[in-house]
Amino acid sequence: MQHKFQVNLLISKEEKGSKILFVDKTMLEDNKNSKKIPDFALLKELGYKGNGVFFAQASKILYVGLENTEIESYANATTSAYKYIKNLKLQEVSLNFKGLDENRQTAILQGFLLGSYEFSGYKSKKENDSNNVPTIHCIGLKESLLQKVVTICANVNFVRDIVNTPPNIANSTFLSELAQNETIKLAKKYKNAEITATLRSNSYMEEQKMGAFLAVNQASNFPAYLAHLSYKPKKAKKKVVIVGKGLVYDTGGLSLKPADYMTTMKADKGGACAVLGAFLASVELGLEIELHAIMGITDNAIGKNAYRPDDVLISREKKSIEVKNTDAEGRLVLADCLSYAQDLDADIIIDFATLTGACVVALGEYTSGVMGFNEELKQKFVESALQSGELAHTLPFNTHLKKLIESKIADVNNASSSRYGGAITAGLFLAEFIRDEYRDKWLHIDIAGPAYVEKEWGVNPYGASGIGVRSCVEFLSSLV
Ligand code: BES
Ligand code: ZN
Ligand code: ZN
Repeated sequence: MQHKFQVNLLISKEEKGSKILFVDKTMLEDNKNSKKIPDFALLKELGYKGNGVFFAQASKILYVGLENTEIESYANATTSAYKYIKNLKLQEVSLNFKGLDENRQTAILQGFLLGSYEFSGYKSKKENDSNNVPTIHCIGLKESLLQKVVTICANVNFVRDIVNTPPNIANSTFLSELAQNETIKLAKKYKNAEITATLRSNSYMEEQKMGAFLAVNQASNFPAYLAHLSYKPKKAKKKVVIVGKGLVYDTGGLSLKPADYMTTMKADKGGACAVLGAFLASVELGLEIELHAIMGITDNAIGKNAYRPDDVLISREKKSIEVKNTDAEGRLVLADCLSYAQDLDADIIIDFATLTGACVVALGEYTSGVMGFNEELKQKFVESALQSGELAHTLPFNTHLKKLIESKIADVNNASSSRYGGAITAGLFLAEFIRDEYRDKWLHIDIAGPAYVEKEWGVNPYGASGIGVRSCVEFLSSLV
């Protein structure tokens, strides 16, 4: 995969052009810092307290305010700095990384690489002059760290590109072939590992009796696909399966979404795309993990063949499902994909899905919901997410919520009888398809909130965020 960034990061020995200096409120309050901050007096006079970015013309220093000294502040501040650099048309900028720990160095690099992303693919007039990107001279930065962050961010931006691609182009065939082609490219490049990509479609799913997944695809003009990507390095210390919800469009089906809720549903493939991005990044980083990525790909359409509320479906795990709402389709696709995943004899299975609006209500638009039975594993994922620059928090299962998906005529309902706790009841539905021996090996990550950005925040411009890639790669890295 080729990805051109809007900045050129170079490891340099000396400063060139303008210079970036991070400042926070406490630094500007303390007169002792007047030596470290060349424009100390000027900044004081102007009342600049580290809020936003300030460019001192004479000294050619770009003062970049930090909200606080937390890791996230460095990424956010760098994204703001990039916008100034672009507006001021600064060609060369220097930044000294010495004295900063690796987490903060990573955050700064992410601020540039992710914060400068733009998707204007369908504008007839191109706004971005890609030949005119600023060069940031990085002083005191390790080449290996830069390489790692560039690999991860390139994949985040790649995922953003696919998720942003409109549904009339990114149909199920487009997404599954893209996944296959990108994997084959890496298989040719990294001959030391065994890398394969298999696409399964409707006839295979019928043989496998994946009645839940197939029902969602029933009214579609395109086939359903289960993409199975695998990476087996010579020395694998763990075996992990990542599973993603790949709804290339979610109309809601016969339980049709209202118009205002249907827009942005091109992003309902965010889970599968995140899984693809994390897979490609893991291969490129050479992680010593046997990794399988399963993408469940279809759209949820309406039409004379559409599955209905009241239908009863038989899933691959042989459990029967009463359809209460055809808009709760992601969990049906995942139920069968998780069943397939459990045949791979893995140490850990993690699914990523834009599963519920309720998760957005519970945690806000910025945070992923982490669910499962294994407290330690959930905590470990949350920690990895935070370290990687993503926000995540756990949501607790309980027996009362579980009762809300009981069916009178089948083993389980696909939607809860209550509006409350919807993210958790969706997680509990998935749990119905997790075999006992996998209970402590499974995590479910609901990314419905952060997957798509309607008002830019942090390092995320308008559109798809590529959420899940950084947290997943960080989590996988922490296993070896
Ligand atoms: N794809 C949606 C969830 C979603 C909502 C993602 C908002 C991103 C932003 C999912 O398929 C859905 O429609 N879920 C329903 C479930 C309900 C019918 C039980 C929901 O959240 O309302
Ligand atoms: Zn839906
Ligand atoms: Zn959906």
